Amino acid sequence: MLIVSEIAAFRQALQRLARPVGLVPTMGYLHAGHLRLVERARQDCASVVTTIFVNPTQFGPQEDLATYPRDFERDSRMLEHAGVDLLFAPNADEIYLPGFQTWVSVEGVSQPLEGASRPGHFRGVATVVAKLFNLAQPEYAYFGQKDAQQVAVISRMVRDLNFPLDLVIVPTVREPDGLAMSSRNAYLNTVERAAAVVLYRSLSCAKEAYEAGERDAEALRQAMRNILESEPLAQVQYVSCADNDTLHELHGPVSHALFSMAVRIGKTRLIDNFVFRDGTWLTGSFNQG
Ligand code: PAJ
Repeated sequence: MLIVSEIAAFRQALQRLARPVGLVPTMGYLHAGHLRLVERARQDCASVVTTIFVNPTQFGPQEDLATYPRDFERDSRMLEHAGVDLLFAPNADEIYLPGFQTWVSVEGVSQPLEGASRPGHFRGVATVVAKLFNLAQPEYAYFGQKDAQQVAVISRMVRDLNFPLDLVIVPTVREPDGLAMSSRNAYLNTVERAAAVVLYRSLSCAKEAYEAGERDAEALRQAMRNILESEPLAQVQYVSCADNDTLHELHGPVSHALFSMAVRIGKTRLIDNFVFRDGTWLTGSFNQG
């Protein structure tokens, strides 16, 4: 695996890679969820390119940019072992030149849910992902269903700006108790870690209620809230049962939906979701270790 941190070296290395190329963008502190994306890319592509970049523009002023967990040595060993061909790990000043003033703002689908809680977040995500697409020019790019709204935003951007690539969306990888794997889980202490399973329990409760015949969107949101409120360490930011494509909250009977939530456990903000589409639940898969 070749590791580069400068754009010129990245471009040069890309020219030598066999096509098709699969791109897996990350912010590092890798776990089995990230590795599942790499695994999928390995299956589909002749070459796999991963990026590690803790993108400052997607963090709000009160957010955890400074403390975001990092372990480059461990990450690069994991990627090498997973069969990545090229790792691009730039510094912020390589990506954002002085005077930088060009942004990609995806409108409607960026606004609710995470967009409402984290103003500017998706502008930062869309901008850096557009830059990575322009730099790497992959045939395929891999994203996790764990970040459902990020998937919606990037899908919209790819269509609206005619990026010549296919997105591949990989199901959420979970810990054995159901907690969605996340770099931010590293912030949880033992008691908080035990409490964090409440997100999965809450989503599972909505699924069970649906399967038992409940169809009303508000009743399904309330079923999720009830479980979250039974956990004293959980502070709910939002609970949503929304249209899969527009992400607008549903009212009345539900036939397909994104069930999602953001919850603080102590100081750690966690998100999770289940998708119900075409009569099937996409709930993710358990990490096999
Ligand atoms: P990061 O949080 O590091 O996640 C990188 C990719 O891994 C994203 O596509 C994310 O959805 C996916 N991922 C994370 N946890 C997962 C899990 N448990 N199961 C499956 N996939 C999972 O998302 C970002 O970085 C950034 O916003 C980025 C797209 C790199 C732009 O800066």
